Amino acid sequence: MADKSVSDGYLVTEKLVKRFDEALAVDEVSLSIGQGEIFALLGSSGCGKSTLLRMLAGFEKPSSGRILLGGQDVATLPPYERPINMMFQSYALFPHLDIWENIAFGLKRERLPSAEIKQRVGEMLDLVQLGSFAKRKPHQLSGGQQQRVALARSLAKRPKLLLLDEPLGALDKKLREQTQFELVNIIEKVGVTCVMVTHDQEEAMTMANRIAVMSSKGRVLQIGTPEEVYEYPANRFVADFIGHVNLFEGRLSVDEPDRCAAATGIGEIHVAHGVSGPLNMPVTIAVRPEKIEISQQRPAVDKNIFTGQVKEVAYFGSYNTYLVRASDGQRVRITEANTSRHDLSKIAWEEQVFFWWGDNAGIVLRD
Ligand SMILES: Nc1ncnc2c1ncn2[C@@H]1O[C@H](COP(=O)(O)OP(=O)(O)OP(=O)(O)O)[C@@H](O)[C@H]1O
Ligand SMILES: [Mg+2]
Repeated sequence: MADKSVSDGYLVTEKLVKRFDEALAVDEVSLSIGQGEIFALLGSSGCGKSTLLRMLAGFEKPSSGRILLGGQDVATLPPYERPINMMFQSYALFPHLDIWENIAFGLKRERLPSAEIKQRVGEMLDLVQLGSFAKRKPHQLSGGQQQRVALARSLAKRPKLLLLDEPLGALDKKLREQTQFELVNIIEKVGVTCVMVTHDQEEAMTMANRIAVMSSKGRVLQIGTPEEVYEYPANRFVADFIGHVNLFEGRLSVDEPDRCAAATGIGEIHVAHGVSGPLNMPVTIAVRPEKIEISQQRPAVDKNIFTGQVKEVAYFGSYNTYLVRASDGQRVRITEANTSRHDLSKIAWEEQVFFWWGDNAGIVLRD
């Protein structure tokens, strides 16, 4: 469920559409985003994320649909009259200006009194903790620090809505992870409503209160908290897009209000929820790799237990991943947390193993 502390409907889009010639870039997107919420648009390259953001900012005119901010229809307002600031996919700082001047740039252009500019730039430098770097040029800062300057520059105008297009795209993986937390802290401190775009699901999960997962054709397939889209994906596309998942195809063999089962290629799979569908209908059961257990010894369980042969073992430091070939040939991905340093019962390539999971590990996807 969505966090009830955020009031719903501060930024609302109603069936927003953008067509370029005949090609649909954004297809009937309806969103309702609460004040103070950090909302992520997540999807693969070319799915329409930037186009959607550019419509919110006013750089692109919707083909149809409405955009409401605080109840006001902003569709007809030019970008500079919207209380919105957008940080672009390639946020270029001005290389010849120092950090202070970079942050002050937009405020000067708005002809704010110089005392006010001074005060706001000071606040922003404190906020992003770069006060001591005010006189440096951008190239004298690390990537993560430059990123924070770009954010400070966007926030200096005190927008009501902050739009971030791939805010961390320019950073390498390690710096990205660190900067994700810093950004969220800064955004939450200011309390500004934020819509961010990313194609990185971990980034969306770490930073956002809620996520809209977009299909490759500009449609929103599911909106939910990180936990909801991970644990209860609405369909195969979302399940597959967010993290790793094993998908077992089968036909519904049991259907009761609180449980069901399906006959699949690896055997009968039991699930702890009903689907209210006709018996024999095709279903897909999704099981996350970390919910599956693996051992050379048969465990004392009687359901959802299968056998297979280990085809690959990968060691990732904090966890191991196994690819196991099940009886029907399907590769099943299993991850196991690495809790001990010297594991005596190490599972090796080509070994016969048992793998199993609880009733509530799997969910049934209907499309
Ligand atoms: N001005 C334009 N004219 C024609 N087609 C466009 C225009 N801008 C975007 N498109 C097309 O619209 C689709 C969506 O583009 P968009 O930039 O919104 O994708 P994106 O999700 O931001 O991708 P990325 O993750 O690569 O930044 C793409 O197929 C793109 O080629
Ligand atoms: Mg883009």
